[in-house]
Amino acid sequence: FNVPIAVNEPVREYAPGCQYREAIAKTYKTMYNSNLDVPMYINGKDVTTGNTRTMSPPHDHKHVVGQYHLAEKSHVDEAISTALEARKSWSQVPWQDRAAIFLKAAELIAGPYRAKINAATMIAQSKTIHQAEIDASCELIDFLRFNVQFMTEMYHEQPQSTSGAWNKIEYRPLEGFVYAVSPFNFTAIAGNLPACMAMMGNVVVWKPSDSQIYSAKVIMDVFEEAGVPAGVINVVFGDPVMITDTVLASPDFSGLHFTGSTYVFKELWKQIGNNIHNYKTYPKIVGETGGKDFIVAHKTANPKQVATAITRGAFEFQGQKCSAASRAYVSKSIWNEVKEQVIADVKSFKMGSPEDMGNFITAVIHEGSFDKLAKYIDQAKADKGADIIVGGGHDKSKGYFIEPTVIVAEDPKYTTMCDELFGPVITIYVFEDDNYSETLKLVDETSDYALTGAILAKDRYAVIEATKALENCAGNFYINDKPTGAVVGQQPFGGARGSGTNDKAGSILNLQRWVSPRMIKETF
Ligand code: ALA
Repeated sequence: FNVPIAVNEPVREYAPGCQYREAIAKTYKTMYNSNLDVPMYINGKDVTTGNTRTMSPPHDHKHVVGQYHLAEKSHVDEAISTALEARKSWSQVPWQDRAAIFLKAAELIAGPYRAKINAATMIAQSKTIHQAEIDASCELIDFLRFNVQFMTEMYHEQPQSTSGAWNKIEYRPLEGFVYAVSPFNFTAIAGNLPACMAMMGNVVVWKPSDSQIYSAKVIMDVFEEAGVPAGVINVVFGDPVMITDTVLASPDFSGLHFTGSTYVFKELWKQIGNNIHNYKTYPKIVGETGGKDFIVAHKTANPKQVATAITRGAFEFQGQKCSAASRAYVSKSIWNEVKEQVIADVKSFKMGSPEDMGNFITAVIHEGSFDKLAKYIDQAKADKGADIIVGGGHDKSKGYFIEPTVIVAEDPKYTTMCDELFGPVITIYVFEDDNYSETLKLVDETSDYALTGAILAKDRYAVIEATKALENCAGNFYINDKPTGAVVGQQPFGGARGSGTNDKAGSILNLQRWVSPRMIKETF
């Protein structure tokens, strides 16, 4: 098929003196003070309800940047009926025309909307400009471009035909409508969940996270300008229980594309199970959920490299990545060197508002997250078997700031070695050099999640052993690297166990879930 070859969007630099720095600072300021009113978007129209909730930046929670409108049940019903109506024409649109719309969306983000989507992500999700650039711009652009390529690769897959009989697979969208539930921590994921399903000809009801509404609004504007027809992607905000109950009660519900917590995903799955007799077709369920991602450092690993994997893996993006390193197992003979470097690295990280572009780390997303993290940190301060070697401070007077914190635990099953914290905290267990194999076994036994993990070692046999022993512990496994930073088109992303259905975001495997193929045989 003749489609543009997808290439990864280059990451722009915003260092002092770089041409884009001033522009983003200006956009940030304007949007920060814009008192934006965000309507929902149903059937191609802005929908206001008068029932609103305010939006505040996590790094400055007393400041109001705007408000968004909350759905009543009737709005969700309307989103569903509108989507079903739109399906009649959208499912007949040739794939080239669907592809063109989403390729245009990618170019709009790459160009005119880039500063806006980055600034919205900095303000409402408290990301530094570098984090916002990687997420809201580059990764979302990559998802859109690469998924067009994957879609055409899928369509290319056709069975053998013989003379006298022509076999064709028609990659139809799912019958009914699909539901996208997206998280706060990645603007790219928020955009990709509805977009990749719509690209395959589906019609969508999308519920973004309450903490991501500002950038969701920019995404909606982009989709509209790119030419997504009315009713194809409908966006509703508000009470997640009411919205989900309404969506899942519809007999036409045919797919869930979810990124968020393990608990919520399992609850939704249960609810879908309970409703199964009501649906016209078996709904497809795709979820990317939690993680308790690990680093194992063998005695032959380079200590500096281990320290970088720990501090970058754990603290970039405030540790609010499902892939973030949150437990590390370090061999005793390299520990002192690793420890010194980890402490030095963390002390060099500047924390504060994203407005100051020199900051490396900003606030965590909301008070609930702050309180949870602070509680674990304070418990570690009090516990005998836990030692905080750097960080440990927290302050929510202005914003939800948690210092990057490194805990060393005597017990490899200490709470912070096992529980998912979702913030800038990592716990390290130091193991005897001779206990490498036992440690790998322990990692496997304590991996209720299986999203990302890393082994650092020079010894190839140690790498081979870890790769085998940890084969079910990580859907994305890294050798001599940090366990974060998967790039669309290079490392398809997703994990199993408590981490999800492992349908690899940014790959043909994910797109295959959003079609219901029809096999057609014609004889002559
Ligand atoms: N895809 C993101 C990463 O790998 C979550 O870090």
